[in-house]
Amino acid sequence: MSKHRNTKIVQAGIANDKAHKAVIPPIYLSSTYNIDGIGKHLPYEYSRTKNPTRDELAAAINELECGVGACVTSSGMAALTLIIHLLNPDDLLIAPYDCYGRSYRLLSALSEKGHFKLRFINQYDDKALEQAFNENTPRMVFIESPSNPVLRIADIKDIAARADECGAVTVVDNTFLSPMLQQPLNLGADIVFHSTTKFLNGHSDVVGGCVVTSDELILEDLEFWANSLGLIGAPFDSYMTLRGMRTLELRVTRAQENAEKVANMLHTHPKVSKVYYPGLKDHVGHEIAASQQDGFGAMLSFEVDGDASSFVDNLNIFKLAQSLGGTESLINHPASMTHVSMGEEAREKAGVTDSLLRLSIGVEHIDDLINDLRNALDNAT
Ligand SMILES: Cc1ncc(COP(=O)(O)O)c(C=O)c1O
Repeated sequence: MSKHRNTKIVQAGIANDKAHKAVIPPIYLSSTYNIDGIGKHLPYEYSRTKNPTRDELAAAINELECGVGACVTSSGMAALTLIIHLLNPDDLLIAPYDCYGRSYRLLSALSEKGHFKLRFINQYDDKALEQAFNENTPRMVFIESPSNPVLRIADIKDIAARADECGAVTVVDNTFLSPMLQQPLNLGADIVFHSTTKFLNGHSDVVGGCVVTSDELILEDLEFWANSLGLIGAPFDSYMTLRGMRTLELRVTRAQENAEKVANMLHTHPKVSKVYYPGLKDHVGHEIAASQQDGFGAMLSFEVDGDASSFVDNLNIFKLAQSLGGTESLINHPASMTHVSMGEEAREKAGVTDSLLRLSIGVEHIDDLINDLRNALDNAT
């Protein structure tokens, strides 16, 4: 019987405990397991290689993303590190010029060391894409949609089809939406990954990541590298993340409702010169987002007309912080925070200006969020 996404996640691992019939899956912290005799191998022997609690989380995320298997990692960056270990030194990786600043830094630094070849391209323009695929034969194509922080929308189906034609693997960072709102494997991608630190865990109290694939051979490689490099997530973190994920649908639904209202308010405010939210009809990626996503999400960015610092200082509910996707609303200044490591030139190209602010909308009462933003804008210098 096919189940709805929300039911799958609420029910993940429920009442599977063989030892004591615990309804909530227990946490296995032991690093090692007692083997019955030499050569008598067990499913679980050593927790870097395999751990029941980590496997429970991997199975739950895999089910949501419709993959054949998943690896849970210690962070989103560990997830990306794991994926790029599929590449050889002569392989070309194509990535968006405006991705999350630390992904940009990791890809640049490793390619400079000769781990693979790298080209940053514009994935949002048909002509630029055509040219990029004509001029290059990539082994891997990396997509981040919506992109962090300007929420550009890449056409996943189209890019995955182009990649497929030249035998390349398509990878999607699905952190900004979660599988509740977008399922890249169903759009033709081969690999999807998350910083589970964000919406999946959802409570800003765990750093984690995961990689899901639709291909058995890729899964074998990912499992080999996750174990060999030791990129794995800890059992306690896995337990916490699965606990947080059970309310994913409730959180995302409420946060998204709030985000739509916040975007509409900012859109008409005289001190806001530009709002980046794919749910707005004038967003360039609105049509594609509407066709490939199940909602527009809870992330948005905007340009404040005036002094960004004085606006941020006037906020009371929104906290200035790194990260996103928790129940609490956060504000981020990408140019000096999440995207500082890109360098000024790349930031400028990506549209990360000094007046750009990114909001992660939480599940608070909408009136309080709107009042907080309005008050801070009205009093900004
Ligand atoms: C879109 C995106 N991908 C990846 C990451 C990296 O995740 P982590 O901080 O869990 O390593 C982040 C972190 O902010 C992110 O926003």
